[in-house]
Amino acid sequence: MTEIENSTPRVTVIGTGAIGSAVVRRLLAGGRDVVVWNRTASRSARLVEEGALPAGSIREAISSSPLVLLTLTDHAAVRQCLAALDTDLSGRTIVAMCTGTADDARSAAQRVAALGARYLDAGIQASPDMIGTDAATILYSGHRSAFEQHAAALGLLSRPRFVGEAPEAAAIWDLALFGVWYDAQLGLLRALETVREAGIDVAEFSRTAGLQLGHVVEAVPGTVSELLRADYPAGPAGLTEHLAVIRHLVVLRSGRRLGDGGLPEVAARIEALIADGRGGEGLTATIG
Ligand SMILES: NC(=O)c1ccc[n+]([C@@H]2O[C@H](COP(=O)([O-])OP(=O)(O)OC[C@H]3O[C@@H](n4cnc5c(N)ncnc54)[C@H](OP(=O)(O)O)[C@@H]3O)[C@@H](O)[C@H]2O)c1
Repeated sequence: MTEIENSTPRVTVIGTGAIGSAVVRRLLAGGRDVVVWNRTASRSARLVEEGALPAGSIREAISSSPLVLLTLTDHAAVRQCLAALDTDLSGRTIVAMCTGTADDARSAAQRVAALGARYLDAGIQASPDMIGTDAATILYSGHRSAFEQHAAALGLLSRPRFVGEAPEAAAIWDLALFGVWYDAQLGLLRALETVREAGIDVAEFSRTAGLQLGHVVEAVPGTVSELLRADYPAGPAGLTEHLAVIRHLVVLRSGRRLGDGGLPEVAARIEALIADGRGGEGLTATIG
């Protein structure tokens, strides 16, 4: 433990929007002293009534605690807040808790290191009402020792999960997981739009579509095992059969408001594999 942590177990939260407010309330409920600063001061007034300690400036807020959580809109806001600092922040851990890219995380880590502090990037897989419940997962990456030092405070917010020492690891996990959700949900929306326009009973169709999504979930362990073994058996269909279906889907989705979901690129990749004599392999071969 650092001297700062010994003298005060405070946590600073910069940004008291939806996530930040939920984080502050959970930390207060967990018995922590919480220092808050928000660009629009009036938006943290309620939290101060509830027991949070207001800081007069962002510098004061950040220098008040060994653990500083930046619960801000995006990394542009993180950059702006960090640019306002010129003091030595040795002994502090700065956590950027916002959705961003790998480059965002790397540049925030560099800026925080230049200020003498340790950086953690955080990907929030939770809505504000889930903060502090078992349903919330927050992914952290960066300084393992900083994560371990503050695991108790971070553990009040969610099941904390350290996903790697590269600062960008949490951002990549976070965005990749969002991608899984968007691909599945947008695939469903494309299908619902198509069947509705064809005059098909959407509710009836959706029951079978739900089973289809279930097949994807059931196949996760097998798919990962194929990838790890670099062995891509065809299963029920090989790439040649997949290509025929995907070409039909491109036609079905043609002219739709949500586009074709990138299927022409997938078809081109499969065509290249077939040309290499790999038409008998399964779909996982596309990323093998
Ligand atoms: N809400 C969710 O369900 C959810 C779920 C998962 C992940 N996330 C991620 O969590 C992050 C926070 O989301 P949120 O829903 O809490 O957003 P939010 O309610 O809009 O709050 C954004 C906060 O950032 C502050 N801010 C914005 N630009 C700033 C700047 N340039 N300088 C200083 N402060 C600035 C705002 O201050 P002002 O009050 O002054 O505007 C506010 O406190 C986002 O990256 C979001 O993608 C959110």
